[in-house]
Amino acid sequence: MHNAAFRHLGIEASYQAWDIPPAELAAAVARLREPGVYGANVTIPHKLEVMPFLDEVSKVAKTIGAVNTIVNRQGRLLGTNTDAVGFSRALGDVGVRPAGISAVMLGAGGAARAVAYALLTAGVRLLLVYNRTPARAERLARDFAALGAIAVVPTSELPICIGAADLLVNTTSVGMVGSKGDDLPLPELWLPRQGVVVDIIYRPSRTRLLREAQAAGLTIQNGLPMLVYQGAESFSLWTGEQSPARAMLEAARLVLESLPS
Ligand code: ATR
Repeated sequence: MHNAAFRHLGIEASYQAWDIPPAELAAAVARLREPGVYGANVTIPHKLEVMPFLDEVSKVAKTIGAVNTIVNRQGRLLGTNTDAVGFSRALGDVGVRPAGISAVMLGAGGAARAVAYALLTAGVRLLLVYNRTPARAERLARDFAALGAIAVVPTSELPICIGAADLLVNTTSVGMVGSKGDDLPLPELWLPRQGVVVDIIYRPSRTRLLREAQAAGLTIQNGLPMLVYQGAESFSLWTGEQSPARAMLEAARLVLESLPS
């Protein structure tokens, strides 16, 4: 999608995949300081480990606990995280304004931290977190308590909390291609009575959770808009240009459609 964006804007640049073993991280980051390099995305397992090699790490990246984007500013490297912005913008596409709503979030991993940041800083009335491993949800709720009303929900109260929620978000990997299969990220099929269900998984394009939610007449969204919008935000930070989000979305969709399901 980044190469499509470069082509769309007539920028002579390319986005490349670098497979960097942990021992070579420092040297790889040093190469990003060269003139002519816009920056980079960072993914597992370097999202946290990259921080000491940067000149500055944004507050959002520190709070989420992960850098997904590095920007080269005349040889100085800024680390930030565009996942929360990406998630917020994606919500806008399905008409969700988080201020004042109640949301239930499934999962407490890295992606959940970006979603929690987005929802709490946008002013949700209450964010309830459910996770297979409750201790991890407790940790997330503690880490984000200063940003707004966040609490852990036990399994016994989950059906009633989801039923009353305006927004249900799955941030777990359950239902993703290559994981356990066509499973639900919940002990049973519990859905909001009305509202929006978002699954940040984009492969498959409709997880079982989304199919069930759609069958129940709820508005659904998969993870593709969040993926594209986090990329669009990174692209703007790198180039200073407004990113061609539509061209990026089309490029990402084409690649995803070409992959075996
Ligand atoms: P990411 O950075 O993509 O969020 P992660 O940090 O490994 O990845 O988090 C994965 C999330 O999916 C966690 O909330 C995890 O739950 P645990 O904290 O209990 O591990 C959740 N998850 C993964 N597999 C799961 C499964 N089979 N059932 C329920 N939750 C699962």
